[in-house]
Amino acid sequence: MIIAVDGPAASGKGTLARRLAERYNLAYLDTGSLYRAVALAVLQSGAEPSDPKAALKAAEALDLTTIDAPAIRGDDVARGASIVAAMAPVRLAIKDVQRHFAQAPPGSKPGAVLDGRDIGTVICPDADAKIFVDADVNVRARRRYLELKTRKSGGASPNEAEVLADLIERDARDRGRAISPLQPAEDALLLDTSNLSIEAAFQAACDLVDQATV
Ligand code: DC
Repeated sequence: MIIAVDGPAASGKGTLARRLAERYNLAYLDTGSLYRAVALAVLQSGAEPSDPKAALKAAEALDLTTIDAPAIRGDDVARGASIVAAMAPVRLAIKDVQRHFAQAPPGSKPGAVLDGRDIGTVICPDADAKIFVDADVNVRARRRYLELKTRKSGGASPNEAEVLADLIERDARDRGRAISPLQPAEDALLLDTSNLSIEAAFQAACDLVDQATV
């Protein structure tokens, strides 16, 4: 059983994907964390994420133990992830890691949930269930802002206008890139969480998965 969950930043796809993994006892992979880990390694080496050589080197040396590091959650890393993710050689270098996770899920789980931007279209085009989660960019910016505010322990408070500008910039890059752009698979269930509670979105996703498994 493979479930593909795609969507833009702060759409609620991660929460949904995690809950689906729990409900159906599946392994879970947040594929955005792979691009974030690549961006973090590039930044730590002193290079710019826009440097294709540095980005490819980091992707080829991707250390999966770093994908849970809190440092990958920073805004500069998110921006860098979106930049390295637009490079075809970087995407190619980490494609197999994702496919392998889906085909041989860790922990002897009977399947996997992967969330990202191109899971239903490129990484797992034969997924049993595909879900595309979206929400109005203002709604997403508000959510991300509140999340950052809760997470911040000291230092400058997040600025909501900057959060919005950052999301608009990332959306444009993720949707507009030539390779594996963010777009719903033709057979994906579209869930707009602007006005849909996470509970209602979860129920709709479960209905889809249940139909796929009968
Ligand atoms: O889901 P996220 O915000 O953690 O992802 C960070 C960036 O990584 C995102 O801006 C685009 C890129 N990404 C991608 O191109 N393909 C994926 N499957 C997952 C993430």
